[in-house]
Amino acid sequence: MILEIVTHPDKRLKGKSKEVEKFDEKLHTLLDNMFDTMNSREGIGLAGIQIGVPKRVFITYIQNGEDTEPTLTEFINPKILAESGVLSYEEGCLSIPSYFEKVDRAETINVSYQNRYGEEQNSTLHGLNAVAFQHELDHLNGKLFVERVSYMKRKKFEKEWKRRGREN
Ligand code: CO
Repeated sequence: MILEIVTHPDKRLKGKSKEVEKFDEKLHTLLDNMFDTMNSREGIGLAGIQIGVPKRVFITYIQNGEDTEPTLTEFINPKILAESGVLSYEEGCLSIPSYFEKVDRAETINVSYQNRYGEEQNSTLHGLNAVAFQHELDHLNGKLFVERVSYMKRKKFEKEWKRRGREN
């Protein structure tokens, strides 16, 4: 089911999401709805809070090779165990439509999380996979990528965003 996406400056995006404790059908429906919603907007990642559900869950949908289908990964109760390197990547966000800006993130991260059945997973993520994980993990902690750009760029963004709000 395709759901509405919560957009900036909605206060819900500023809250800290809660740990998932039950790996039941309700969680599976949430994950399925998140995928449908993300896919309808051609996104590569979506966090629960972006459809108004403050749980520590996000998904990524990333192509890892030119002729391959994108891979869907469901991350529940995700954590970063180690990180290295720096990668500057132009990010966007379905909660901040049509705004893109470069953000510095770790290039490689070791992560742990649970899958939809509650099974513990570990993996090492590089490049865009690492960037998307860090962007989405920020959502679970109430942080948007515009808070990670320089002060001047942030000011410019807020000004443009307010103007756009008045025009709509
Ligand atoms: Co986002």
